[in-house]
Amino acid sequence: MTQAAEDSLAMPEPEESGLVRTLNSMGTMTPAPDIFSRAFIDFAPKAPGRCLDIGAAYGVATLPALRGGASIIANDIDERHLKILLNRVPPEQRSRLELAPGEFPDRIDFPAGSLGAVLICRVMHFFDGPRIERAAAKAMEWLAPGGKVFVVGESPFIGTAKAFFPTYESRQKAGNPWPGVVENVAAHDPKRAGSLPGLFHLLDERVLGRVFTAAGFEIERLELFPRPDYPADIRLDGRESVGLIAVKK
Ligand SMILES: C[S@@+](CC[C@H](N)C(=O)[O-])C[C@H]1O[C@@H](n2cnc3c(N)ncnc32)[C@H](O)[C@@H]1O
Repeated sequence: MTQAAEDSLAMPEPEESGLVRTLNSMGTMTPAPDIFSRAFIDFAPKAPGRCLDIGAAYGVATLPALRGGASIIANDIDERHLKILLNRVPPEQRSRLELAPGEFPDRIDFPAGSLGAVLICRVMHFFDGPRIERAAAKAMEWLAPGGKVFVVGESPFIGTAKAFFPTYESRQKAGNPWPGVVENVAAHDPKRAGSLPGLFHLLDERVLGRVFTAAGFEIERLELFPRPDYPADIRLDGRESVGLIAVKK
């Protein structure tokens, strides 16, 4: 990227809802951290190592974590997001920030046992099942004992997935290990299909609990939670997102 192109990078104006679109059509960044991201932000300064924010976008979690005194590695598949993020960080906090662009989990790496916490917020719902399993295994490898992983994803209980719900239920009854894979995003959310990747994977407690337990984590907290700040068509009944906190013993 030329210096001029880099200088012209700016965070897009927020939508009416406060959500900010990504530059690579990978959904939006939320205007404020959700309850599980907040738990990561609170844990980060006392974590047993540096903390990794996967899919950090423009810094919704990284910025408050740095403000709280943590050392953060901000990752994103789109380096432009990280350049914008860096410009949003006060100069005196930049020595505690490292930028690590690259595709998680397959194209970034960290020394085993070197991280204190990993946040994967609103990124895993773009992964197929095997990639979710590789992500959990990488988090387990990279974390130090006592380190924690924090995960947030969209659940099947969102207003825009009503038409998909019978498929989800019947797959679940049939024992499908990945009942929430939406192959046809355009049918699921025609309004936003253009700003989403081709695969969307609605996640629930059963899937996250199974995958992270199999990777060796002890689950501390796992629940569906409400997104009162989401646009009205995405909100449903207070179960719009799923969150997990798990510890490496
Ligand atoms: C929906 S946004 C979420 C941003 C923020 N974490 C939040 O909670 O609002 C997804 C972000 O993850 C990034 N991303 C998507 N797939 C990724 C991957 N495999 N590895 C790293 N970053 C990824 C996108 O570029 C985008 O910035």
